[in-house]
Amino acid sequence: MPDETTPLPVLEADDKKTTVGNYFVSNYPPYSMWSTDHRDAALNLFDTPAALGTPLGLYVHIPFCRKRCHFCYFRVYTDKTRDEVSEYLDAVLEEATRYAATARIEGRKLKYVYFGGGTPSYLSEKQLTHLFDGLKERLDWNEVEEVAFECEPGTLSTRKLACLKDLGVTRLSLGIENFNDDILELNNRAHRSQQVGNAYDWAIDAGFEQVNIDLIAGMLGETDENWQANIDTLVKMQPHAVTIYQMEVPYNTTIYKDMKESGKDEAPVADWGTKRRWVTEAYAALEDNGYDITSAYTAVRDAAEIKFVYRDALWSGADMLALGVSSFGYLTADNGGGMHYQNQHDIVPYISAVTGGDQPMYRALPIDQEEAMIREWVLQLKLGKINRQPFIKKFGVDPFEKWADILGGYAEEKLITIDGDEITIPRQTLLRIDTLLVAFFKPEHHGVRYA
Ligand SMILES: C[S@@+](CC[C@H](N)C(=O)[O-])C[C@H]1O[C@@H](n2cnc3c(N)ncnc32)[C@H](O)[C@@H]1O
Ligand code: SF4
Repeated sequence: MPDETTPLPVLEADDKKTTVGNYFVSNYPPYSMWSTDHRDAALNLFDTPAALGTPLGLYVHIPFCRKRCHFCYFRVYTDKTRDEVSEYLDAVLEEATRYAATARIEGRKLKYVYFGGGTPSYLSEKQLTHLFDGLKERLDWNEVEEVAFECEPGTLSTRKLACLKDLGVTRLSLGIENFNDDILELNNRAHRSQQVGNAYDWAIDAGFEQVNIDLIAGMLGETDENWQANIDTLVKMQPHAVTIYQMEVPYNTTIYKDMKESGKDEAPVADWGTKRRWVTEAYAALEDNGYDITSAYTAVRDAAEIKFVYRDALWSGADMLALGVSSFGYLTADNGGGMHYQNQHDIVPYISAVTGGDQPMYRALPIDQEEAMIREWVLQLKLGKINRQPFIKKFGVDPFEKWADILGGYAEEKLITIDGDEITIPRQTLLRIDTLLVAFFKPEHHGVRYA
């Protein structure tokens, strides 16, 4: 989760370099607007039941990794002992116990569960079993449609994968990032290609419903030749789903720290134009091999079969209970808006809040119906197709009328096409979609720090 003071670029200033800062829009309004002033209001909202039929999801943050990658901007720890990890997991379970008894959560069935990090697969089988069993005792998993779980390949074994399968994981996501050992080393990744091959084969043999591979276009040291080799390997592997990120260099990364020390203002990674070309080449090869491109970042082997429940529920305004350090959640409200909230972003205040009898929530932001509509609109635009009718039905506002000027401008520039009720976003636009979303933000959210 981003946690650094970063302005969002309004439009890419330059195709010819990568400037420092967050590029990826993962939520709205920007995190910098969330405040400790709203913490009590968010906690109070747990005393109110959700409207009937509102889906409920669970996000659990595991903030531990074997090494810190040079490009990483997430909250992670690489120095915790086994006992400290266990203490953290107990705090997560205690947090769950308290929320489970609230009017908002009690009696509701989870639709999806997502374990993110950091590296959830850093946990041992014993710790995983303790965590999953504990969560299942406290929350109703009987109708869960998806249990997604992020892994770093070098942390996996056949035993751990069998354990995860038994515990109910359906979508296993492998953070492979690159298949080349020199590039993995240059970026301070903990795993190497041998472990990637093993982890992938074991995961397929274990029979997970969905194995996803994460890659990053534009790691330190990436070249045209190596990227092509990555694509060839990917196509041979035929995973169920592929997620390709374009490397961004936020302020709280080692890459930026090194740039600052050496007085450079340009990140030492490929420029945005090259990264978009690399993703285009990867998508073209995947499409030639029968994949469908289902969002700005994702290709799937069988779009009718392969769903991503977490993403779709989050992007269409479901409730999401968040547990663990720095994790963020969302609660719907009866004014048509909702409430964002985020936990303490450091493990020490997180654990002391829980052990002191308090909830470890740190900051929150109530949003009105208009902001909820903007949030769902900008997130769903990333899917490459969007229809105005569900928005008119849900919010009573026609997005085509509300944003006539912006949409007209984008259509004129051929960035989108509008046909009847539907907008289609061509591939070239989709690859830079995040930079086009800020235009839909309320005026007071333009030019503010993103995180
Ligand atoms: C929390 S990590 C996934 C699990 C595990 N920590 C790992 O890295 O293998 C989520 C994903 O974010 C992506 N990511 C991390 N830092 C990034 C950056 N600076 N730019 C683009 N993508 C990034 C990587 O693809 C990574 O797999
Ligand atoms: S393994 Fe993942 S979460 Fe951990 S430091 Fe690397 S990118 Fe970040």
